[in-house]
Amino acid sequence: MRILITGGKGMLGRTLFNHWQANHTCFVADLPEHDLTRPETLEQLFSELQPEVVVHCAAMTQVDLCESQPERAFLINAKLTESLAKACHQHQARLIAISTDYVFAGADPTPQRETFRPSPRTVYGASKLAGEEAIRQYCPNHIIARVAWLYGSGGPSFVHTMLALAAADPLRSLDVVNDQHGNPTSTTAVAKVLTAMLTRPDLTGTFHLTCEGVTTWYEFAQTIFRLAGYTAINVTPCTSEAFKRPAKRPKWSALSKDKLKAAKLPAMPAWQEALAQFIRQEWPL
Ligand SMILES: NC(=O)c1ccc[n+]([C@@H]2O[C@H](COP(=O)([O-])OP(=O)(O)OC[C@H]3O[C@@H](n4cnc5c(N)ncnc54)[C@H](OP(=O)(O)O)[C@@H]3O)[C@@H](O)[C@H]2O)c1
Repeated sequence: MRILITGGKGMLGRTLFNHWQANHTCFVADLPEHDLTRPETLEQLFSELQPEVVVHCAAMTQVDLCESQPERAFLINAKLTESLAKACHQHQARLIAISTDYVFAGADPTPQRETFRPSPRTVYGASKLAGEEAIRQYCPNHIIARVAWLYGSGGPSFVHTMLALAAADPLRSLDVVNDQHGNPTSTTAVAKVLTAMLTRPDLTGTFHLTCEGVTTWYEFAQTIFRLAGYTAINVTPCTSEAFKRPAKRPKWSALSKDKLKAAKLPAMPAWQEALAQFIRQEWPL
């Protein structure tokens, strides 16, 4: 299969490329070589590469920076995505686009279903939702795969940040937010399900692809330190109020995987299992 991975140098894009390069013809489009906000870049990529599938990982992902740069966030996460959706439809390529749990307001503890109405509270979430809506409008042959709390080889991610802090001072104390709930998710687990989706051209629509189980950043941090063998780090739970950031994150953004199950796709692993495997591979004791 001829697969174009946008944002292929990013954390998820690299994992997908590594998973697929042996069995597919994979191309990567990323900055600085390919600025996908330029219409001529898309035209050139489609005419030269003729992809059958486009996996769209390119995004402005710095959630706090998006608050102060909304025009850039909408240019990349919405406008670029709209142009790509139109190009995919025109060139009869299937579009698999990666989106986020932050499209939801996350005000109540019920895991968000694919059918729930999104209501983002951040510029990042609103720009990603605008991208989703453009895909639904302009490219019927699409999958929107919402992921969350990602970590993968090379980072950057929460796991990398925590372990860098621990390596710098294995006796340190740390306050970590304990009132935001979500599904920590490994890029490898996402890649496995997307691999299965490649063989299922019958599938379209929005799917949630996060690891199973709900936790907070505080519990996530504690588990990271335990698995990596840092037993003397002192982690204290704190509130989002005490740890003010420009973007107001959802309190509850766990995603239910109803469509994944209905489509009989491989189940996502428990977040603890995926994290343990990741830490064993990347930071062997
Ligand atoms: N990371 C998470 O926790 C998380 C959570 C939920 C959803 N997601 C979604 O998952 C997807 C992949 O995330 P990720 O963590 O792998 O992101 P990432 O590491 O930030 O990768 C995104 C890539 O897109 C590139 N890019 C940005 N603007 C571009 C443009 N105009 N033309 C071409 N490439 C461009 C970036 O280049 P530069 O680095 O040079 O800007 C970067 O290499 C994104 O859609 C994101 O919204 C991520």
